[in-house]
Amino acid sequence: MFEGVGAVAVREVADPSIEDQGDAIVRVTTSAICGSDLHFFHGKAPMSPGDGIGHEGVGVVEEVGSEVRRFRHGDRVVIAFDIVCGDCWFCRRGQTSLCEDFRNLGAGPFAGGLGGVQAERVRVPFADTNLLGIPDGMEDERALFVGDILTTGYYGAAIAGIGPTDTVAVVGVGPVGFFCVQGAQVHGAKEVLALDPDHERLALAEKMGAVPIEVGTDQPRAAVERVTDGRGADVVIEAVGHPAAYETATRIVRRGGRVCVVGMYVTEKAEIPLGIYWSRALDIRFAGICPVHAWWEEALNAVRAGKIDPLPIISHRLALADAARGYELFDSKEATKVVLTP
Ligand SMILES: NC(=O)c1ccc[n+]([C@@H]2O[C@H](COP(=O)([O-])OP(=O)(O)OC[C@H]3O[C@@H](n4cnc5c(N)ncnc54)[C@H](O)[C@@H]3O)[C@@H](O)[C@H]2O)c1
Ligand SMILES: [Zn+2]
Ligand SMILES: [Zn+2]
Repeated sequence: MFEGVGAVAVREVADPSIEDQGDAIVRVTTSAICGSDLHFFHGKAPMSPGDGIGHEGVGVVEEVGSEVRRFRHGDRVVIAFDIVCGDCWFCRRGQTSLCEDFRNLGAGPFAGGLGGVQAERVRVPFADTNLLGIPDGMEDERALFVGDILTTGYYGAAIAGIGPTDTVAVVGVGPVGFFCVQGAQVHGAKEVLALDPDHERLALAEKMGAVPIEVGTDQPRAAVERVTDGRGADVVIEAVGHPAAYETATRIVRRGGRVCVVGMYVTEKAEIPLGIYWSRALDIRFAGICPVHAWWEEALNAVRAGKIDPLPIISHRLALADAARGYELFDSKEATKVVLTP
């Protein structure tokens, strides 16, 4: 649980119970720490001491309410990081992240006050919509990120409209960018370029088949021009969520190319050169929060088929009891991804 800015702790709390008949109680078998959890850890988003935290998890259904149709006791499931109703106008169109009743697990009072998945048990509302069955034989760690960052990368690449001759540049190859790289490959990119100032993250992207470009040492535009006959990338996926990265993305894209913004923005502002965008005929697409429910089956199938490998992103495996240490490792960037098991 959140204890205060810069502090989390593991404490005994009451087990969650069914509150609405669409709920399921999931016994968490594996969870992970996500970059978004750090926003609370740093006090950038409001959370009170004692609030549960975490939204990436897999587990086993322990109990379901009377209205749950698709799951029962003993089913292994992935939990969606965004909790939606499944039945409003937006949800019915597959735009679940725009749900009228949008909530997040373990994200404080403004996100619905739901418990976190960095726990032994969690209550999942509208379980039929917000859980996905895990195929027999698939390990927890392979399924874990399908509820959040893996499907986000897959979705970002899917809506970026990648063609078979396209060079795709991913700006920022942290955990989300790592999956954007693999998503771009699954969606048919001819070549994927990875841009990041961080050596280790670039090395990981290179291991997955991307061409590394070290931002800072290399001038991004010049480096991308060198491998694209001077044109720039056909498609750019921005997976940082910082105005500097957004600007890089719009600079390295070719005339008539597309930028898909997966990185998250809250209150940041940027000056936009409309005339340059217009004359270069840029297509800029904001991904928004990933509507995981519309994409996670496809993403899980890609994992099952071996087209996406989530395991190399995991750098640390700790017991849930050591969560505080996990946050330290992740916050200091010593860890690329921390997995916690109760
Ligand atoms: N759309 C969604 O649903 C969704 C879901 C999850 C996360 N996100 C967002 O995606 C973004 C990335 O998440 P993450 O967990 O991988 O974050 P992260 O901070 O771990 O990784 C960001 C990476 O970008 C690199 N970077 C920083 N500045 C850069 C620059 N100017 N140019 C190139 N690279 C730069 C960093 O070195 C790092 O490797 C965040 O904004 C996060 O909030 C969005
Ligand atoms: Zn997350
Ligand atoms: Zn809805």
